[in-house]
Amino acid sequence: MIKNVAIACDHGGYELKLDVIRHLEEKGIAYEDFGCNSTESVDYPDYGIPAAKAVAEGKFDAAILICGTGIGMSLCANKVKGIRAAVCSDTFCARMTRAHNNANVLCMGARVIGLGVALDIVDAFLGTEFEGGRHATRVEKVMAEEKADR
Ligand code: RB5
Repeated sequence: MIKNVAIACDHGGYELKLDVIRHLEEKGIAYEDFGCNSTESVDYPDYGIPAAKAVAEGKFDAAILICGTGIGMSLCANKVKGIRAAVCSDTFCARMTRAHNNANVLCMGARVIGLGVALDIVDAFLGTEFEGGRHATRVEKVMAEEKADR
């Protein structure tokens, strides 16, 4: 079970982030908000990368990153060493990316999914454990690419 999260957004994800924060508070899950703090236009890497780095540094179990599509946030988070970020628009993928990919960053697109689905995705992601076993071997192969000398 993921117990503490970094959360960040850009302007496209700001409103949904407020709802997700309320949801985390109701569930008693600790979080730190890495911004942004309004719907004024900003650049998603300025918020997604610091939150992802905080996860990579071990300060949080996971991050939740929200932009218009979730894609920009996932691109920048996956550039941070140690991060496995997944864009999820349904609960099946949210469960599977924890169980099989050991994802440590959940990205969502506020212009893609509605509030109810988003909160269910958060619950599915935070509540699912990595299965390990053969999936650990595969994740190790993915992460070995960070050290590849090409
Ligand atoms: C902002 O307009 C939008 O590009 C951003 O929120 C995100 O969807 C990028 O991937």
